[in-house]
Amino acid sequence: MTSRRLVLSRGAALVGAASTGILLPQIVRAQSNRIRVGFMLPYTGTFAQLGVAIENGVRMAIAEKGGKLGGRDIEWFKVDDESEPSKGVENANRLVQRDKVDVLIGTVHSGVQMGIQRVARESGVLNLIPNAGVHAATRALCAPNVFRTSFTNSQPTLALGKPMMDKGLKRTVWITWKYAAGDEAFEGFRDSYTKAGGTIIKELGLPFPNVEFQALLTEIASLRPDAVACFFAGGGAAKFIRDYAAAGLKDKIPLWGSGFLTEGVLDAAGPAAEGIMTTMHYADSLDTARNRQFRTAYATNFKMQPDVYAVQGYDTGLLLAQGMAAVKGDFGNKQALYQSLETQTIDSPRGKWTMSKSHNPIQDMYLRRVENKDNKVIGIAAKALADSGAGCKLA
Ligand code: PHB
Repeated sequence: MTSRRLVLSRGAALVGAASTGILLPQIVRAQSNRIRVGFMLPYTGTFAQLGVAIENGVRMAIAEKGGKLGGRDIEWFKVDDESEPSKGVENANRLVQRDKVDVLIGTVHSGVQMGIQRVARESGVLNLIPNAGVHAATRALCAPNVFRTSFTNSQPTLALGKPMMDKGLKRTVWITWKYAAGDEAFEGFRDSYTKAGGTIIKELGLPFPNVEFQALLTEIASLRPDAVACFFAGGGAAKFIRDYAAAGLKDKIPLWGSGFLTEGVLDAAGPAAEGIMTTMHYADSLDTARNRQFRTAYATNFKMQPDVYAVQGYDTGLLLAQGMAAVKGDFGNKQALYQSLETQTIDSPRGKWTMSKSHNPIQDMYLRRVENKDNKVIGIAAKALADSGAGCKLA
């Protein structure tokens, strides 16, 4: 019954649990001055590692700030959303209605985010989005209580077209998972690449989270483009990279992508990943004291290397801690809290960033190349890039 599984970490507050495989806790709510923070993230499936990295990042940022939010202790809750859009509303309501969280941190998958977005808009719960890039969340469906600390799906690929054309790659095949994240990443790629004079000779796709790439790779070989550009992430990205090399394409047709392609997968992808070029709002090798300090602390705490997802989680923790400090823990003062969240500068390992009026980061995009299992910075592909925020009425 994985689909019904609920992951909980609330220590002493958990006073009863059924032994049916479904945990039905009774919660001691008395006298609590604690702030209730719920994670709704994928802990299973192709994005499982992404969920773990985000949670690690959030916890580390808050621990560095003394483990409290505006002086208040924290009670944590967790739900595995399985990257399953059809359960998005139900899972969000587990946290909002049953667990009565004050803050919902989630999620990774754009389709699942649409469920959270609905619950956030209806309930007014504070939602911090640590990854999912779906445009609607900070465009047509933007809300005063929803803030994103990551990107919109077209932000990284808006920086991709020009560097490809600069390398003389004029005819490209695009390939992705066919769902909001892939389709919107395509929008950014199409706009930047065609503006720079490139031609997209074919769009290829397969349903999320399928990894049967063989027929599509055969088609790419026969199309003989100058390059391939793509959006994939997590376990599926590692497999795509390996299959691309195994199909004999690696040394013939350069592979480019939205930077998620090479995040958190470089060990799993091995030599097949070397040389891949991507654009992204973070790079492992960013040579700043802030990034070095973050990477050392993360590796020490979690015995693994951080990636962009860990950074986004970390920044989510920073944003929440800074906002709560500004209102001195007075979570009820929503107007002051939201105003504070809107105006924070986040001193991130990715570089300092601020919130746009539609509640999405304004940030630099880096051009990177995989070298020796590292996303090496080649340069800045776009400076202070903001999403259009089209249709958002917050401003
Ligand atoms: C998304 O579904 O919005 C998504 C998922 C994984 C990523 C990026 C975007 O790495």
